[in-house]
Amino acid sequence: MFNFCYLWHSLILTICFSSYGQLSSDFDWDYIVFSQRWPLSTCAEWEETKPGNVCNLPTNRLTWTVHGIWPTKSGTRGPISCNSAIHFDPNQLTPMLDDLKEHWTNVEANTKQNSFWEHEWKKHGTCASILPQFDSVTNYFSRGLKFNKDYNLSTILESNGVVPNNNGYNLQDVYNTIMNSTGKEPSIQCVTDKNTKESFISEIRICLNKTLDLIDCEPSSAHEKGDIGMNTNCNLKKSVIYLLKIPQFYLNENESEMNEIDQTFQNWKYYTMIYNFLNVLFWITL
Ligand SMILES: *[C@@H]1O[C@H](CO)[C@@H](O)[C@H](O)[C@H]1NC(C)=O
Ligand SMILES: *[C@@H]1O[C@H](CO)[C@@H](O)[C@H](O)[C@H]1NC(C)=O
Ligand SMILES: *[C@@H]1O[C@H](CO)[C@@H](O)[C@H](O)[C@H]1NC(C)=O
Ligand SMILES: *[C@@H]1O[C@H](CO)[C@@H](O)[C@H](O)[C@H]1NC(C)=O
Repeated sequence: MFNFCYLWHSLILTICFSSYGQLSSDFDWDYIVFSQRWPLSTCAEWEETKPGNVCNLPTNRLTWTVHGIWPTKSGTRGPISCNSAIHFDPNQLTPMLDDLKEHWTNVEANTKQNSFWEHEWKKHGTCASILPQFDSVTNYFSRGLKFNKDYNLSTILESNGVVPNNNGYNLQDVYNTIMNSTGKEPSIQCVTDKNTKESFISEIRICLNKTLDLIDCEPSSAHEKGDIGMNTNCNLKKSVIYLLKIPQFYLNENESEMNEIDQTFQNWKYYTMIYNFLNVLFWITL
């Protein structure tokens, strides 16, 4: 018991420190990935991840929202969590809070309101901050909101008749619609239902160089592109769904009702209590 607890605790501490403690001093990156989400798909994924997860959706549910602005070194995924002197300051978000809630939505209702934005700043904003266009929390987030308007995916897709419906599209048509509009290769990401293997379009990414001109995106992993000639992780054996409504089987009874959110926070408090209790117990047994 003694050794086990000690090891367990060290392990947790090690994990915590290695994910939060190390900041990269490597600000070397080549281009920006601007990622937008289809919140209904993000929601379906979130609710599937853990029982009790509930979603917070923008007032206009059928709208593309920002995920993040991600500096990327060609051929890799990062850098992330750069050692920037600029710290996350939620006060800088206050003037644009309504806009952020609607267009840079934290879909995960059972997390703290600022947590999504803080995460994006710490992981990606710190690395982006070497460019003057992103050199403060205000600039990073207002630029994301501007990109969301400038590269309005609803408008782009609608222009070629691609609208949300639950019937499915040939991904190539969706991909070409964006390529025809932007002149550059996008990246389209799906969440895939474990049982039906159906893919729901969840993110569309466009890429920009350091002067913020559009460029071709790269495949985000070695599995992508290759044979199919598209940057995507979607399952192409079936048509891909541009969700109009979240399929009922994903929903926790009545989605996003206030009483459910309360219930989740109750559960959360309960888990936290147990966790704290166990923690105390560990220290006592040590
Ligand atoms: C995107 O365009 C749609 C109409 O196609 C509009 O309703 C929506 O407000 C626009 N989004 C932004 C962020 O401007
Ligand atoms: C894209 O543009 C090409 C060439 O103009 C055209 O043949 C094709 O039908 C367009 N595809 C879509 C999906 O708009
Ligand atoms: C970004 O792309 C534009 C258009 O292709 C080009 O004129 C510009 O020089 C590029 N900027 C950088 C930093 O590569
Ligand atoms: C959600 O609530 C509405 C009315 O409050 C009800 O008509 C509907 O059946 C409920 N849906 C589910 C899946 O429980």
